[in-house]
Amino acid sequence: MKFVKRTEKCGLLNSSKIGDEVILNGWVASNRNLGGLLFIDLRDRWGIAQLVIEPENFPQLAELGRTLRSEFVIWAKGVVRKRESVNTKIPTGEVEILLTDFGIINQSLLPPFEISDLTDANEELRLKYRYLDLRRNELQNNLVVRNKVYQIVHKYFYENDFMEIETPLLMKSTPEGARDFLVPSRIYKGRFYALPQSPQIYKQILMVSGFDRYIQIAKCFRDEDLRSDRQPEFTQIDCEMSFVEQDDIISIFENFIKVTWKKVLNVDLQLPFARLSYKEAMENYGSDKPDTRFDIKIKTLNTLFQNTDFQVFKQTLENNGIIAGINAKGCGNYSRKQIDTLTEFAKKYGARGLAYIKFSEGTVTGSIAKFLSEQEIQDLKTTFQVEDNDLILFISDKWTRTYTVLGALRLEIARQTGIIEQVKNKFNFLWVVDFPLFEYDETEERYVAMHHPFTSPKIEDIPLLDTNPGEVRAIAHDIVLNGVEIGGGSIRIHDADLQKKMFNLMNISEKEAEDKFGFLLTSLKYGAPPHGGIALGLDRLTMLLIGTDNIRDVIAFPKTTSGLSLMDNAPSFVDEKQLNELGIAISPNSKTM
Ligand code: AMO
Repeated sequence: MKFVKRTEKCGLLNSSKIGDEVILNGWVASNRNLGGLLFIDLRDRWGIAQLVIEPENFPQLAELGRTLRSEFVIWAKGVVRKRESVNTKIPTGEVEILLTDFGIINQSLLPPFEISDLTDANEELRLKYRYLDLRRNELQNNLVVRNKVYQIVHKYFYENDFMEIETPLLMKSTPEGARDFLVPSRIYKGRFYALPQSPQIYKQILMVSGFDRYIQIAKCFRDEDLRSDRQPEFTQIDCEMSFVEQDDIISIFENFIKVTWKKVLNVDLQLPFARLSYKEAMENYGSDKPDTRFDIKIKTLNTLFQNTDFQVFKQTLENNGIIAGINAKGCGNYSRKQIDTLTEFAKKYGARGLAYIKFSEGTVTGSIAKFLSEQEIQDLKTTFQVEDNDLILFISDKWTRTYTVLGALRLEIARQTGIIEQVKNKFNFLWVVDFPLFEYDETEERYVAMHHPFTSPKIEDIPLLDTNPGEVRAIAHDIVLNGVEIGGGSIRIHDADLQKKMFNLMNISEKEAEDKFGFLLTSLKYGAPPHGGIALGLDRLTMLLIGTDNIRDVIAFPKTTSGLSLMDNAPSFVDEKQLNELGIAISPNSKTM
């Protein structure tokens, strides 16, 4: 099978080449016989070119042309000419190549699905034959965008004096947060490496070593439950900086995002991005990653209901809980069934029930209408700027639950009423800051770090560590776009005594801290500079640039939501011999099929 090397790329041909003789290489996307002429669409990584064979003048070529099937690889020589009927949908649509010679370089089996933009093959089949799926325009373009992001990262951070440094993939297991993926050691039987959940510890140590500004496009591994925006292995744009304050990190990354949006989408973003405290985010939007593209806001109603006769609300106030609500505008005509469905939805987020009132043609109805006083109804109207046909939804529970449920409901209402669709072209970036340093883990009955145990408390909150640890705020920052957390980081503790105190508060004994992170703690004692950083999820960032909500669309070889790689069948069983070398035996009961 002869191969004649190309002189041009299929997708880059245009009318400037008319009259030139060119050679192309590529895959047959389609071929058809029209009005005595043979047309072949030839695809390469840059796009599609139309080839024409005239059987009258080239009978042997026509004969060979009729044997072509989809996905055959060919070389083709011919002269570029203007098309009779221009195709404005593709960049090469003004020209075609009249073939004078061509040859088949390689054949292809019949693909299990059509390789086209509108393929109807299910995702499982496409993942099994990922190499074919990756030939589709959509996935090619996604990886082109991803590649642009890599290039912007390298250039932007290099120009800002950052150093790219690789950190190990085989490291010590330091479980905190998600579960580790473990790699058994052959030489030290019974011992394991872990794959990094992030380069967190190494990048802090690099600051102790004096590298000052570190950046890495880093592979991370987390054995956690998967969702449409989570993969067990994913990529971070991971950064750490010395002698900085939170504002320095925020400003470097805001600028990075601005440059990226300009270069990839030609969109001009306005800086600085908004900043919300964790408390503001929760109390207004019911989420620490609020979608602020639409204006449904949560209103806290404790004052409004301070004299209420309604028992449920009264009890909430007595228990120091929160009564809050949202106005589902225009939903006053929701049927009983629709409200029941909303109630079930709210229960999934922990609600015990969903109270509501409807305003319709001057009357007020709904589950709690009869318990409310004239004054309360009047105040609700003012608070929520009620118009006819509005529906107010109420939750009264503990602080976190009330706001979390209402946060989920505001998104659901926005989806149901088509608001999300209307705002889909907006980019609302914001920073969430002032997170609590700790959350209380009810099952473990101890405080755990909300970000990670190396996050610094706010200086002014340090005295609270002794009196009220739950109230201590962290110097932490998350960056959010349209309700998706795309990154997070913090200023770290660089003082060994403060770090020790943190472990104490989390009930992590000195021995346990030493066993897990001893090397970091020791390094901090050798002149650690003040430092901090952030990591952005590169996959999530690319998803949002492209406008997909499926993380698999931006990863060349992704796993399914159950952690399988359908193309190569990983994870797989291994030989007894391999297990023996590692000193590992699989217990018969734990083997899965
Ligand atoms: P964090 O755990 O918040 O921080 O992760 C940072 C960002 O990584 C992305 N991300 C994921 N993307 C895809 N699949 C996953 N399973 C997944 N998990 C996280 C998210 C997230 O915002 N070491 C700290 C950073 C720091 O403090 O500097 C860290 O890893 O976009």
